[in-house]
Amino acid sequence: MTTNTLLRQLYDTTEQDILAQIHELKASLGDRVLILGHHYQREEVFAFADATGDSLKLAQTAASTQAPFIIFCGVHFMAETADILTADDQVVILPDPAAGCSMADMADDSQVRQCWQELAGVIDPDTTVTPVTYINSTAALKAFCGEHGGIVCTSSNAQKVMQWGWQQREKILFFPDQHLGENTALRMGIDEAEMIIWDPFRPLGGNTPEAIRQARLILWKGFCSVHQLFKAEHAETMRRNHAGIQIVAHPECSREVCETADFVGSTEAIIRHVKAAPAGSKFAIATELNLVNRLRLQFPDKPIWFLSPTICMCSTMFRTDPQHLCASLQAIAEGKGYHQITVPDAQKGWAKVSLERMLQLA
Ligand code: 13P
Ligand code: SF4
Repeated sequence: MTTNTLLRQLYDTTEQDILAQIHELKASLGDRVLILGHHYQREEVFAFADATGDSLKLAQTAASTQAPFIIFCGVHFMAETADILTADDQVVILPDPAAGCSMADMADDSQVRQCWQELAGVIDPDTTVTPVTYINSTAALKAFCGEHGGIVCTSSNAQKVMQWGWQQREKILFFPDQHLGENTALRMGIDEAEMIIWDPFRPLGGNTPEAIRQARLILWKGFCSVHQLFKAEHAETMRRNHAGIQIVAHPECSREVCETADFVGSTEAIIRHVKAAPAGSKFAIATELNLVNRLRLQFPDKPIWFLSPTICMCSTMFRTDPQHLCASLQAIAEGKGYHQITVPDAQKGWAKVSLERMLQLA
Protein backbone atom coordinates (compact mmCIF):
# COMPACT_ATOMS: atom_id res chain seq x y z
CA MET A 1 0.00 0.00 0.00
CA THR A 2 1.42 3.43 -0.90
CA THR A 3 1.79 6.16 1.68
CA ASN A 4 -1.02 8.16 0.13
CA THR A 5 -3.42 5.22 0.08
CA LEU A 6 -2.60 4.47 3.70
CA LEU A 7 -3.15 8.09 4.71
CA ARG A 8 -6.43 8.26 2.78
CA GLN A 9 -7.62 5.16 4.63
CA LEU A 10 -6.61 6.68 7.95
CA TYR A 11 -8.51 9.90 7.18
CA ASP A 12 -11.60 7.73 6.64
CA THR A 13 -11.14 6.17 10.08
CA THR A 14 -12.55 7.74 13.24
CA GLU A 15 -10.13 9.64 15.45
CA GLN A 16 -10.95 7.25 18.29
CA ASP A 17 -9.87 4.25 16.17
CA ILE A 18 -6.70 6.00 15.09
CA LEU A 19 -5.74 6.76 18.68
CA ALA A 20 -6.43 3.11 19.58
CA GLN A 21 -4.24 1.95 16.66
CA ILE A 22 -1.41 4.24 17.78
CA HIS A 23 -1.62 2.78 21.31
CA GLU A 24 -1.49 -0.76 19.93
CA LEU A 25 1.35 -0.10 17.51
CA LYS A 26 3.37 1.69 20.15
CA ALA A 27 2.91 -1.20 22.58
CA SER A 28 3.92 -3.80 19.99
CA LEU A 29 6.96 -1.86 18.77
CA GLY A 30 8.15 -1.16 22.34
CA ASP A 31 11.71 0.15 22.67
CA ARG A 32 12.32 -0.07 18.93
CA VAL A 33 10.65 3.32 18.51
CA LEU A 34 11.24 6.57 20.35
CA ILE A 35 8.67 9.30 19.74
CA LEU A 36 9.98 12.81 20.32
CA GLY A 37 7.47 15.64 20.73
CA HIS A 38 8.16 19.36 20.59
CA HIS A 39 6.11 21.55 22.94
CA TYR A 40 4.23 23.12 20.00
CA GLN A 41 2.68 19.82 18.93
CA ARG A 42 -1.07 19.46 19.14
CA GLU A 43 -2.32 17.63 22.22
CA GLU A 44 -3.48 14.43 20.45
CA VAL A 45 0.06 13.88 19.14
CA PHE A 46 1.99 15.27 22.11
CA ALA A 47 0.28 12.74 24.39
CA PHE A 48 2.13 9.90 22.60
CA ALA A 49 5.62 11.37 22.96
CA ASP A 50 8.15 9.32 24.95
CA ALA A 51 10.23 12.45 25.43
CA THR A 52 9.20 16.09 25.09
CA GLY A 53 11.26 19.25 25.10
CA ASP A 54 12.56 22.38 23.45
CA SER A 55 14.97 22.12 20.53
CA LEU A 56 18.03 21.67 22.74
CA LYS A 57 16.54 19.00 24.97
CA LEU A 58 15.20 17.05 21.99
CA ALA A 59 18.57 17.24 20.22
CA GLN A 60 20.26 15.95 23.41
CA THR A 61 17.71 13.14 23.67
CA ALA A 62 18.25 12.16 20.02
CA ALA A 63 22.02 12.17 20.55
CA SER A 64 21.75 9.72 23.45
CA THR A 65 19.06 7.25 22.33
CA GLN A 66 19.84 3.74 21.09
CA ALA A 67 16.35 3.28 19.60
CA PRO A 68 16.58 2.07 15.99
CA PHE A 69 13.62 4.28 14.96
CA ILE A 70 12.98 7.87 16.04
CA ILE A 71 9.71 9.50 15.06
CA PHE A 72 10.19 13.25 15.35
CA CYS A 73 6.92 15.07 15.99
CA GLY A 74 8.30 18.50 15.26
CA VAL A 75 9.59 20.21 12.13
CA HIS A 76 12.12 19.40 9.43
CA PHE A 77 15.24 21.04 10.92
CA MET A 78 14.65 19.11 14.17
CA ALA A 79 14.50 15.77 12.35
CA GLU A 80 17.61 16.69 10.35
CA THR A 81 19.41 17.52 13.60
CA ALA A 82 18.37 14.15 15.04
CA ASP A 83 19.66 12.37 11.92
CA ILE A 84 23.02 14.14 12.20
CA LEU A 85 23.37 13.23 15.89
CA THR A 86 22.30 9.58 15.64
CA ALA A 87 24.24 6.58 14.32
CA ASP A 88 24.03 5.70 10.60
CA ASP A 89 21.85 2.66 11.26
CA GLN A 90 19.23 4.62 13.24
CA VAL A 91 16.25 5.84 11.22
CA VAL A 92 14.70 9.28 11.80
CA ILE A 93 11.15 9.80 10.55
CA LEU A 94 9.29 13.10 10.16
CA PRO A 95 5.61 12.04 10.00
CA ASP A 96 4.69 14.79 7.52
CA PRO A 97 7.69 15.81 5.40
CA ALA A 98 6.00 19.13 4.59
CA ALA A 99 6.41 20.21 8.22
CA GLY A 100 9.07 22.86 7.65
CA CYS A 101 9.92 26.12 9.41
CA SER A 102 9.35 29.41 7.57
CA MET A 103 12.16 31.05 9.51
CA ALA A 104 14.65 28.32 8.54
CA ASP A 105 13.68 28.98 4.91
CA MET A 106 14.81 32.61 5.23
CA ALA A 107 18.50 31.74 4.90
CA ASP A 108 19.75 29.25 2.37
CA ASP A 109 23.21 27.92 1.75
CA SER A 110 23.86 30.02 -1.37
CA GLN A 111 22.74 33.24 0.33
CA VAL A 112 24.99 32.64 3.34
CA ARG A 113 27.96 31.76 1.10
CA GLN A 114 27.29 34.91 -0.92
CA CYS A 115 27.23 36.93 2.31
CA TRP A 116 30.58 35.41 3.38
CA GLN A 117 32.05 36.26 -0.02
CA GLU A 118 30.78 39.84 0.14
CA LEU A 119 32.16 40.20 3.67
CA ALA A 120 35.52 38.99 2.32
CA GLY A 121 35.61 42.08 0.09
CA VAL A 122 35.66 44.25 3.25
CA ILE A 123 37.17 42.16 6.09
CA ASP A 124 38.73 38.69 6.41
CA PRO A 125 35.73 36.69 7.71
CA ASP A 126 37.76 33.52 8.20
CA THR A 127 39.79 35.18 10.91
CA THR A 128 37.37 37.82 12.22
CA VAL A 129 33.84 36.35 12.08
CA THR A 130 32.32 33.38 13.94
CA PRO A 131 29.23 32.16 12.07
CA VAL A 132 26.45 31.18 14.49
CA THR A 133 23.36 29.47 13.17
CA TYR A 134 20.17 29.12 15.14
CA ILE A 135 19.20 25.44 15.20
CA ASN A 136 16.15 26.51 13.13
CA SER A 137 18.17 26.21 9.94
CA THR A 138 19.04 23.68 7.27
CA ALA A 139 21.73 21.03 7.73
CA ALA A 140 23.67 22.82 4.96
CA LEU A 141 23.98 25.93 7.15
CA LYS A 142 25.02 23.90 10.16
CA ALA A 143 27.69 22.37 7.91
CA PHE A 144 28.76 25.86 6.81
CA CYS A 145 29.25 26.81 10.46
CA GLY A 146 31.18 23.63 11.21
CA GLU A 147 33.49 24.26 8.27
CA HIS A 148 34.08 27.94 9.11
CA GLY A 149 34.86 27.64 12.84
CA GLY A 150 31.26 28.33 13.83
CA ILE A 151 28.58 26.78 15.97
CA VAL A 152 24.85 26.12 16.39
CA CYS A 153 22.70 27.68 19.12
CA THR A 154 19.16 27.23 20.39
CA SER A 155 16.90 29.64 22.21
CA SER A 156 18.02 28.15 25.53
CA ASN A 157 21.79 28.48 25.11
CA ALA A 158 22.18 31.46 22.75
CA GLN A 159 23.99 33.57 25.37
CA LYS A 160 26.56 30.89 26.17
CA VAL A 161 27.09 30.21 22.47
CA MET A 162 27.49 33.89 21.55
CA GLN A 163 29.97 34.35 24.38
CA TRP A 164 31.94 31.45 22.89
CA GLY A 165 31.64 33.00 19.42
CA TRP A 166 33.15 36.29 20.56
CA GLN A 167 35.92 34.45 22.40
CA GLN A 168 36.94 32.87 19.07
CA ARG A 169 36.74 35.95 16.83
CA GLU A 170 35.86 39.64 17.15
CA LYS A 171 32.58 39.48 15.21
CA ILE A 172 29.57 37.14 14.98
CA LEU A 173 27.42 36.55 11.90
CA PHE A 174 24.11 35.32 13.34
CA PHE A 175 21.45 33.66 11.17
CA PRO A 176 18.63 33.18 10.34
CA ASP A 177 16.76 34.85 13.26
CA GLN A 178 17.53 38.53 13.72
CA HIS A 179 15.45 38.69 16.90
CA LEU A 180 17.04 35.86 18.90
CA GLY A 181 20.47 37.31 18.05
CA GLU A 182 19.47 40.87 18.88
CA ASN A 183 17.59 40.05 22.12
CA THR A 184 20.43 37.87 23.37
CA ALA A 185 23.13 40.43 22.55
CA LEU A 186 21.18 43.24 24.25
CA ARG A 187 20.92 41.11 27.40
CA MET A 188 24.67 40.57 27.22
CA GLY A 189 25.22 44.33 27.24
CA ILE A 190 26.12 44.71 23.57
CA ASP A 191 25.22 48.20 22.38
CA GLU A 192 22.81 48.47 19.48
CA ALA A 193 25.38 50.66 17.72
CA GLU A 194 27.58 47.55 17.50
CA MET A 195 24.94 45.59 15.55
CA ILE A 196 24.02 45.73 11.89
CA ILE A 197 21.30 43.94 9.95
CA TRP A 198 22.21 41.87 6.89
CA ASP A 199 19.50 41.91 4.23
CA PRO A 200 20.38 39.05 1.85
CA PHE A 201 18.58 40.81 -1.02
CA ARG A 202 20.78 43.94 -0.96
CA PRO A 203 24.46 44.41 -1.84
CA LEU A 204 26.62 44.14 1.29
CA GLY A 205 23.40 43.30 3.10
CA GLY A 206 22.41 46.97 2.83
CA ASN A 207 25.48 48.15 4.79
CA THR A 208 28.48 50.34 4.10
CA PRO A 209 31.98 48.82 4.30
CA GLU A 210 32.65 51.10 7.29
CA ALA A 211 29.56 49.81 9.16
CA ILE A 212 30.71 46.22 8.53
CA ARG A 213 34.20 47.00 9.83
CA GLN A 214 32.74 48.59 13.00
CA ALA A 215 30.10 45.93 13.75
CA ARG A 216 30.52 43.24 16.39
CA LEU A 217 27.28 41.50 15.47
CA ILE A 218 25.86 40.99 11.98
CA LEU A 219 22.22 39.93 12.22
CA TRP A 220 20.54 38.13 9.34
CA LYS A 221 17.19 39.68 8.47
CA GLY A 222 15.05 36.62 9.28
CA PHE A 223 12.14 36.14 11.64
CA CYS A 224 9.42 33.80 12.86
CA SER A 225 6.08 34.97 11.54
CA VAL A 226 4.29 33.38 14.51
CA HIS A 227 6.30 35.26 17.14
CA GLN A 228 6.27 38.56 15.25
CA LEU A 229 2.50 38.77 15.80
CA PHE A 230 3.02 39.60 19.47
CA LYS A 231 3.28 43.35 20.12
CA ALA A 232 4.41 45.47 23.07
CA GLU A 233 0.96 47.10 23.19
CA HIS A 234 -0.56 43.67 23.90
CA ALA A 235 1.57 43.57 27.04
CA GLU A 236 0.38 47.07 28.01
CA THR A 237 -3.26 46.00 27.64
CA MET A 238 -2.69 42.87 29.75
CA ARG A 239 -1.00 44.89 32.49
CA ARG A 240 -3.83 47.43 32.45
CA ASN A 241 -6.50 44.71 32.71
CA HIS A 242 -4.83 42.27 35.12
CA ALA A 243 -2.90 43.74 38.03
CA GLY A 244 0.27 41.81 38.87
CA ILE A 245 0.33 39.83 35.62
CA GLN A 246 3.72 38.59 34.40
CA ILE A 247 4.55 38.88 30.71
CA VAL A 248 6.48 35.86 29.44
CA ALA A 249 8.02 35.79 25.96
CA HIS A 250 9.99 33.50 23.68
CA PRO A 251 13.22 35.21 22.45
CA GLU A 252 12.02 34.97 18.82
CA CYS A 253 9.63 37.82 19.70
CA SER A 254 10.59 41.37 18.76
CA ARG A 255 12.95 43.44 20.88
CA GLU A 256 10.02 45.59 22.10
CA VAL A 257 8.13 42.55 23.41
CA CYS A 258 11.24 41.02 25.03
CA GLU A 259 12.21 44.32 26.64
CA THR A 260 8.83 44.70 28.29
CA ALA A 261 8.64 41.02 29.33
CA ASP A 262 9.21 39.90 32.92
CA PHE A 263 10.67 36.61 31.69
CA VAL A 264 12.19 35.58 28.35
CA GLY A 265 13.12 31.99 27.63
CA SER A 266 12.89 28.90 25.45
CA THR A 267 9.73 26.79 25.46
CA GLU A 268 11.22 24.51 28.13
CA ALA A 269 12.30 27.50 30.24
CA ILE A 270 8.81 29.03 29.96
CA ILE A 271 7.28 25.79 31.28
CA ARG A 272 9.77 25.68 34.17
CA HIS A 273 9.06 29.33 34.99
CA VAL A 274 5.27 28.88 35.13
CA LYS A 275 5.62 25.64 37.11
CA ALA A 276 7.87 27.27 39.72
CA ALA A 277 5.50 30.22 40.34
CA PRO A 278 3.18 30.13 43.38
CA ALA A 279 -0.53 29.35 42.90
CA GLY A 280 -2.51 32.40 41.84
CA SER A 281 0.33 33.84 39.72
CA LYS A 282 -1.00 35.37 36.50
CA PHE A 283 0.75 35.10 33.14
CA ALA A 284 0.33 36.42 29.61
CA ILE A 285 2.50 34.28 27.35
CA ALA A 286 3.96 35.18 23.96
CA THR A 287 4.65 31.89 22.26
CA GLU A 288 2.81 29.32 20.16
CA LEU A 289 -0.83 28.63 21.07
CA ASN A 290 -0.62 24.86 21.63
CA LEU A 291 1.96 25.32 24.37
CA VAL A 292 -0.01 28.13 26.04
CA ASN A 293 -3.19 26.04 26.00
CA ARG A 294 -1.34 23.08 27.52
CA LEU A 295 0.04 25.29 30.32
CA ARG A 296 -3.52 26.44 31.03
CA LEU A 297 -4.64 22.84 31.44
CA GLN A 298 -1.62 21.84 33.51
CA PHE A 299 -1.81 24.77 35.90
CA PRO A 300 -5.48 25.57 36.46
CA ASP A 301 -4.53 27.41 39.68
CA LYS A 302 -2.51 29.97 37.66
CA PRO A 303 -4.59 32.14 35.33
CA ILE A 304 -2.86 32.16 31.91
CA TRP A 305 -3.62 34.31 28.87
CA PHE A 306 -2.30 34.19 25.35
CA LEU A 307 -0.56 37.56 24.88
CA SER A 308 -1.96 38.37 21.45
CA PRO A 309 -5.67 39.02 20.79
CA THR A 310 -5.25 37.16 17.49
CA ILE A 311 -4.36 33.49 17.18
CA CYS A 312 -0.67 32.77 16.44
CA MET A 313 -0.20 29.11 15.59
CA CYS A 314 2.72 27.42 13.92
CA SER A 315 0.96 25.91 10.92
CA THR A 316 3.87 23.61 10.11
CA MET A 317 4.06 22.17 13.64
CA PHE A 318 0.31 21.59 13.28
CA ARG A 319 0.83 19.42 10.18
CA THR A 320 1.71 16.42 12.34
CA ASP A 321 -1.64 14.88 13.17
CA PRO A 322 -2.56 11.46 14.62
CA GLN A 323 -3.06 10.10 11.07
CA HIS A 324 0.55 10.86 10.08
CA LEU A 325 1.86 9.53 13.38
CA CYS A 326 -0.17 6.33 12.94
CA ALA A 327 1.09 5.92 9.36
CA SER A 328 4.70 6.30 10.57
CA LEU A 329 4.22 3.58 13.19
CA GLN A 330 2.45 1.28 10.73
CA ALA A 331 5.26 1.64 8.21
CA ILE A 332 7.83 0.68 10.86
CA ALA A 333 5.73 -2.31 11.96
CA GLU A 334 5.46 -3.48 8.34
CA GLY A 335 9.15 -2.86 7.61
CA LYS A 336 8.41 -0.18 5.00
CA GLY A 337 10.18 3.08 4.38
CA TYR A 338 8.20 6.16 5.38
CA HIS A 339 9.29 9.80 5.30
CA GLN A 340 12.79 9.09 6.52
CA ILE A 341 14.95 12.19 6.89
CA THR A 342 18.48 11.58 5.66
CA VAL A 343 21.05 14.36 5.66
CA PRO A 344 23.52 13.88 2.79
CA ASP A 345 26.95 12.62 3.93
CA ALA A 346 28.59 15.68 2.38
CA GLN A 347 26.79 17.89 4.95
CA LYS A 348 26.64 15.48 7.87
CA GLY A 349 30.29 15.63 8.92
CA TRP A 350 30.63 19.40 9.25
CA ALA A 351 27.07 19.82 10.56
CA LYS A 352 27.93 17.38 13.34
CA VAL A 353 31.03 19.42 14.19
CA SER A 354 28.98 22.59 14.75
CA LEU A 355 26.27 20.75 16.69
CA GLU A 356 28.80 19.00 18.90
CA ARG A 357 30.54 22.29 19.65
CA MET A 358 27.17 23.45 20.97
CA LEU A 359 26.42 20.26 22.91
CA GLN A 360 29.83 20.42 24.57
CA LEU A 361 29.10 23.98 25.76
CA ALA A 362 25.70 22.92 27.13
P1 13P B 1 12.48 26.14 21.46
O1 13P B 1 13.84 25.61 21.22
O2 13P B 1 12.44 27.20 22.52
O3 13P B 1 11.51 25.03 21.75
O4 13P B 1 11.98 26.90 20.16
C1 13P B 1 11.79 26.28 18.94
C2 13P B 1 11.01 27.10 18.04
O5 13P B 1 10.93 26.84 16.86
C3 13P B 1 10.32 28.26 18.56
O6 13P B 1 9.58 28.86 17.55
FE1 SF4 C 1 9.67 27.92 12.82
FE2 SF4 C 1 8.30 29.88 13.99
FE3 SF4 C 1 7.20 27.46 13.71
FE4 SF4 C 1 9.19 27.86 15.47
S1 SF4 C 1 7.14 28.73 15.54
S2 SF4 C 1 9.02 26.15 14.03
S3 SF4 C 1 10.43 29.37 14.33
S4 SF4 C 1 7.81 28.88 12.06
